[in-house]
Amino acid sequence: MEKFIIEGGKPLKGEIRVSGSKNATLPILAASLLTDGVCEIRNIPKLRDTLTMCKLLRSLGKTVEISANKVVISGSVNNHVADYKLVSTMRGSFCVLGPLLAKLGKAKVSMPGGCVIGVRPIDLHMKGIMALGVKADFDGGYVIATATKLQGSQMYLGGTFGSSVLATANVMMAASLAHGETIIESAACEPEIEDLGNFLSGMGAKIEGHGTPRIVINGVRKLNGISYRMGSDRIEAGTFLLLAAAAKSDILVKDAQYNHLLALVDKLQSIGVDVRKDGGDIRVKVKKTLRPANIVTHPHPGFPTDLQAQYMALMAITPGVSIITDRVFPDRFMHIAELNRMGAQIRRDAGVAIVEGIKHLYGAPVMASDLRASAALVIAGLVAHGKTEIYRIYHLDRGYEDLDGKLTGIGAKVYREKE
Ligand code: UD1
Repeated sequence: MEKFIIEGGKPLKGEIRVSGSKNATLPILAASLLTDGVCEIRNIPKLRDTLTMCKLLRSLGKTVEISANKVVISGSVNNHVADYKLVSTMRGSFCVLGPLLAKLGKAKVSMPGGCVIGVRPIDLHMKGIMALGVKADFDGGYVIATATKLQGSQMYLGGTFGSSVLATANVMMAASLAHGETIIESAACEPEIEDLGNFLSGMGAKIEGHGTPRIVINGVRKLNGISYRMGSDRIEAGTFLLLAAAAKSDILVKDAQYNHLLALVDKLQSIGVDVRKDGGDIRVKVKKTLRPANIVTHPHPGFPTDLQAQYMALMAITPGVSIITDRVFPDRFMHIAELNRMGAQIRRDAGVAIVEGIKHLYGAPVMASDLRASAALVIAGLVAHGKTEIYRIYHLDRGYEDLDGKLTGIGAKVYREKE
């Protein structure tokens, strides 16, 4: 295993480029199961998670060629079992369920299980596919599902914590090859769903409303291959905006989609950060002392849960009090203890984090617990006084392409060592 060593406090300046979207890539790779045609997908981020999904596609019978940031998928799916070893490492792989059912009429997919950001149920996935006529059971840690025919229907997919991104994706993919019309009410509106809808449309699916709470799909008999370019990763872009704000830098975040980040941009502007759209990029400058501000995470277009930890790192060094609430994953606070090891003053009280911002953090050995928590520790390490060692950075490698290389490019002193 490797660790990051960060020598904090170096001035950061210049340009940093955002890679293709991880969370859009995973369901889009799964969607390639829906066709026997060739799918060429460009601008794919080279990450542990995208490589895991490619492995899963191979295990299901597909031929997958990976070169630089391009993946070419061909062949036909001939295995309906998505193995525990591949699905358990990454929740995104559960979205092969819909395509397997649509293509083979049966699927045995390992349940993804819980993880450190909280309990992660699959009831909305099951509700959605069962509304299409699927019979499903649980056995030995697997979902075992069969369908003689997928039949379109109208369904409500809202849950206790709002809509579900991957449940919406699973239903969209299954419904694309179902008989008749499917209407998903309370569908997830995340840009990743819009991307998946565009990909499916490019394959010949009849789909409307993706990116809104009401998606209408008219099933077709067959989908074609496609050549598609992934858009950029809004969470990676948001992480860089928060890093620039925390480091009080002037940074151009290249290939960042401003319209995907409005809740974050609005928050940053309200605390005194100068954030502007600059063509297809976003420029961040900090000219004055920042103010603390509360956030509550919500499904898109609200403040994303995947940027909550990184925002907390910013608030930890913004003098004054701020309150952080996560309404999507209410227990997603593993990073508090690690940030406190660096001198932050954060406590958890009845489901919220109360941050008493201070002037400086101090470098310390810390442990990455999950992907976005690790990104928060990187931000904290870059602005802290002294040296920070971040252990278990395989979490970062799941979701940030060449992070150390990109940070070095804007002046950071960060390198890897064996643990
Ligand atoms: C996706 C993202 C993840 C992000 C999350 C929320 C991928 C690969 N991952 O995860 O990075 O943090 O969206 O934006 O795209 N829920 C249920 N029942 C279900 C499914 C979900 O109650 O069947 C709940 C979850 O526990 C959570 C909320 O719904 O409280 C949202 O989760 P969901 O949108 O499903 O997250 P994922 O799609 O798994």
